[in-house]
Amino acid sequence: MSAFAPNRRHVLGAGLAAALAPRLAWSREDGVQVLTARPATAPLGAPDLPDTPVWAFDGVVPGPVLRAVAGERFRVLLRNRLDQPTTIHWHGVRLANAMDGVPHMTQHPVAPGEEFLYDFVAPDAGTFWYHPHANSWEQVARGLYGPLVVTPAEGAETGREIVAMADDWRLGEDGAIHESFSSGHDASHGGRLGNWLTVNGRSAPSFSARPGETLRLRLISSANARVMAFDFTGFAPMLLALDGAALPAPEALAGPVTLAPGQRADLWLTMPRVEAGVAAQEVSTGAPTTAFSFDIAGEPAEPLAPPTLSPWRQREPDLGAARAAILRMEGGAMRWLAQAVYNGETLDGRALAERGQFWAFNGVANMAPEPVITLRRGETGLIALRNETRWRHAMHLHGMHFRVVARGGAQVREPWRDTVLMQPGEAVDIAFSADNPGDWMLHCHMLSHTAAGMHGWIRVTPDQA
Ligand code: C2O
Ligand code: CU
Repeated sequence: MSAFAPNRRHVLGAGLAAALAPRLAWSREDGVQVLTARPATAPLGAPDLPDTPVWAFDGVVPGPVLRAVAGERFRVLLRNRLDQPTTIHWHGVRLANAMDGVPHMTQHPVAPGEEFLYDFVAPDAGTFWYHPHANSWEQVARGLYGPLVVTPAEGAETGREIVAMADDWRLGEDGAIHESFSSGHDASHGGRLGNWLTVNGRSAPSFSARPGETLRLRLISSANARVMAFDFTGFAPMLLALDGAALPAPEALAGPVTLAPGQRADLWLTMPRVEAGVAAQEVSTGAPTTAFSFDIAGEPAEPLAPPTLSPWRQREPDLGAARAAILRMEGGAMRWLAQAVYNGETLDGRALAERGQFWAFNGVANMAPEPVITLRRGETGLIALRNETRWRHAMHLHGMHFRVVARGGAQVREPWRDTVLMQPGEAVDIAFSADNPGDWMLHCHMLSHTAAGMHGWIRVTPDQA
């Protein structure tokens, strides 16, 4: 299934783990939640159209909101009722490597009819999400994704919250998902952009709220490729967290919140004091569309101050003692690859295109045999991401969050994130404390770019630095 050569050491380890995975009839009473990936239909809301055939966790889009407690054991049994192998990746969670859900790297793909027990501890409270990492460019586009909310162990966050998961679907005129998953044009340009926006699997849903009410919005993008921007004018928006990680203090937002594929933002919203319907707009295309709205009615509520969130618990990177590497991102339309190594062979651009490969990291299309960088546990990694393409990319690191510490050569210190949006030609340096051993993916989260070559990895060895 996978486009890359398996890493033998990990395949053996994961095979053993898979063989040991219990195969009992689990239930919620055992503390294990069962999540079944299966075909279903969903009312995505295209007017006058029948429900859309999708693939979905437990048959709903998005899949159920899973809730874990920071620092406590969390178990989900994945059952695969699809006709192709799958896995679950817990996007943004600093979990044990064997539970990261990357086929051929951290586990065997879960075959149709098989199951796999995910059993881990999420160390940080925040907003995360889950999705397959097998054939993700098709499986996520067909509806396989859901929110994961991790709540703090102590000092429970109080007050109302809404989880809003936004997706950009490509629907045909019959309301069915367009089957263009491997379009070379999409893959070599901006990725598979859609034509239909949903939030929580609905077109422009509306939530009820009281005048003046304050609430926490957990906003998640599961789009394949579209960079979305949400305008909360009228709600006095404050930004609380990015990609699950709390900011040092809430920040008033001056403009729209941009979410690249995979990114999240936690916001504190204050409802207007009037009875009205007020919309949050998606504004990335210049033609604002209602993403969702609030029906404001009833007794006025006393606004609350934004909550103080527990800080992201990862150690700060130590730039003075960092081990550095460069990651040159090349290819795509208008800067076509002259050549790259693919599956061990050096091929020219045309031969690569015939194999669906349009992008390369450090001259290798798709998984290189060697990691971008090898770090010892506790060391600081500094990766110079160089976007030498004419396209935007959403670079995502598994297993650890990072800070952007330089942009365009200027030193900065941006909030913790797991996915950074890069502009065409942009140079971004990311730094992180490598405190989670294992082999971790570093890839573009525009999923047709992932499929077409933007697939790399790093290694953190277990020995202490
Ligand atoms: Cu959200 Cu490697 O993925
Ligand atoms: Cu990309």
